[in-house]
Amino acid sequence: ELSPADKAKSVAANRAAGYVEDGMRVGLGTGSTAAWLVKRLGERVRADGLRFRGVPTSTRTAAQARDVGIEVITLDEAGWLDLTIDGADEFDSDLTLIKGGGGAHLQEKIVARASDRMIVIADAAKEVETLGAFPLPVEVIPFGLKSTQKLIEEALVAMDVGGRTTALRMNGDAPFVTDEGNHIIDLHLQRIGDARQISTVLNQIPGVVENGLFIDMCDLVIVGHADSRVDLHH
Ligand code: A5P
Repeated sequence: ELSPADKAKSVAANRAAGYVEDGMRVGLGTGSTAAWLVKRLGERVRADGLRFRGVPTSTRTAAQARDVGIEVITLDEAGWLDLTIDGADEFDSDLTLIKGGGGAHLQEKIVARASDRMIVIADAAKEVETLGAFPLPVEVIPFGLKSTQKLIEEALVAMDVGGRTTALRMNGDAPFVTDEGNHIIDLHLQRIGDARQISTVLNQIPGVVENGLFIDMCDLVIVGHADSRVDLHH
């Protein structure tokens, strides 16, 4: 028996899987909701003979996609994508997203930006009035980690954002390492007023590779519910 949250995620994922058509090049997101999508797409490949190529956004998703029989190619082999389907940690009414709770937002953003269309799949818990209760992930290169973290904190003070606590993401006793060999600093902002400003300022700091704000990228959010209903947010 699925938990209500898992049921909701799978409902959203199953609906989104219907957007994938023969011949498409599709970005495959990362996380527990995206895993439901990959599972469903594998079923469509095996049962319906669906033929498409998938570009995974993490080593985790790549392994799962191969397991379920999806033809996996790299973003460079694809060149450009018809569609990306991914989860999110938060989304607001403008369809601005926070991503990167699973540490994959760098590849996820590159893949989403190289797609004609991005669909986000989520359960209702991800919908927020104001972004920022979920800590904003920032991927930073290992070199100069401490000075980069200091510069991020100074930038938050200069922008006068509410919460200014930053935390290096850990994996046991060692810093968490991303697929690109970098680390993640989580910003506990509480509320994000001007996402565009925060995103621009963060990405101008030399050691920062990419932050988890996705602005003007998502075209549709599909929210699934445990009772099998879906809401569409355009
Ligand atoms: C991965 O880095 C994230 O961007 C995920 O897309 C996000 O954390 C959503 O994950 P869940 O579907 O597990 O909530």
